[in-house]
Amino acid sequence: MKKILVTGGLGFIGSHVVVELQNSEFEVVIIDDLSNTNVEVLDNIEKITNIKPQFFQIDLRKKELVQDFFKNNQLDGVIHFAASKAVGESVEKPLDYYENNINALVYLLQEMDKNNIDNFIFSSSCTVYGQADELPITENAPVKIAESPYGNTKQIGEEIIQDSCKAYGFNAIALRYFNPIGAHESTNIGELPLGVPQNLIPFVTQTAAGIRKELSVFGDDYPTLDGTAIRDYIHVVDLAKAHVSALQRLLKKENKDNFEFFNIGTGKGTSVLEIVQTFEKVTGKKLNYKIVDRRPGDITAAYADTTKANIELNWKAEETLEAALLSAWKWQQKQTNKE
Ligand code: WQD
Repeated sequence: MKKILVTGGLGFIGSHVVVELQNSEFEVVIIDDLSNTNVEVLDNIEKITNIKPQFFQIDLRKKELVQDFFKNNQLDGVIHFAASKAVGESVEKPLDYYENNINALVYLLQEMDKNNIDNFIFSSSCTVYGQADELPITENAPVKIAESPYGNTKQIGEEIIQDSCKAYGFNAIALRYFNPIGAHESTNIGELPLGVPQNLIPFVTQTAAGIRKELSVFGDDYPTLDGTAIRDYIHVVDLAKAHVSALQRLLKKENKDNFEFFNIGTGKGTSVLEIVQTFEKVTGKKLNYKIVDRRPGDITAAYADTTKANIELNWKAEETLEAALLSAWKWQQKQTNKE
């Protein structure tokens, strides 16, 4: 059984990838520093798959701890999620973001080289494109000057990996996520935003649950059909399955270059107001919202051209937006009932 390290494996996307890896007969070991999640996610993964992954609470900024871990674990691949990811916070604390998102990546790659581990999957983001000149966005779209230190760490991360693949000979795939939403159908795992949610969907579900008074829609003066910004919202389970497809591509040595990158989205754009309307339709809940000013740094529209991933990874998003929003609501209801 191939053994895969998943860093940040107790996080929102990481935990869904762990479930899909276990469903595909991989042995999984998780490193997480628990800074943005809680350890009960481990038991919740086990509730879904009946397999409790090995777990090590390690801060990947501590080089010696990373070295010790790799001394004691033979691995066939690494999927790296562990990183700080709040765009706004990265503007206030850039050095925290560079330390956590870059140093940790360097230490991981150094240990992979030392221990001859060949396969690396990197959690990247469509943020690297900024406001693309053409829609839908293909992988040929130019990487633009990052709008935030968070986005910059994703760009720098990809460059570090590309240089390392060339120099040390390992193979890597960067998956450029669009907007991951929703939760596992079991409602055992989902998005656990600590504090006031920055992202749209958790704010929507918390408003519907009465935790937030109303949703602020950041701007309705964009050059779009209804004036609100457009994104490509992809069910987190579809996104998780893309990681398994990418890993299998590397394990079977089907990759055409030692560093590849793929846009992972649905290929469909949805506006904020369309999200509100669709959420109300699938849940029967009325959403209180008000239109406020644009959020600084937001782009008008982003949605993926997924042709390359469809063909090369033999992967396609299967879930509907309705199913994703309903799963987010069911997950929220479970969290609210717990409180
Ligand atoms: C989506 C849309 C907002 C909240 C960011 C990162 C990206 C990834 C996902 C980490 C936008 C609007 C939002 C609210 C709103 N992060 N909105 N009211 O900004 O597209 O992407 O999060 O991996 O890298 O850049 O996602 O969910 O914050 O916003 O109107 O309370 O919803 O303006 O148009 P975003 P988001």
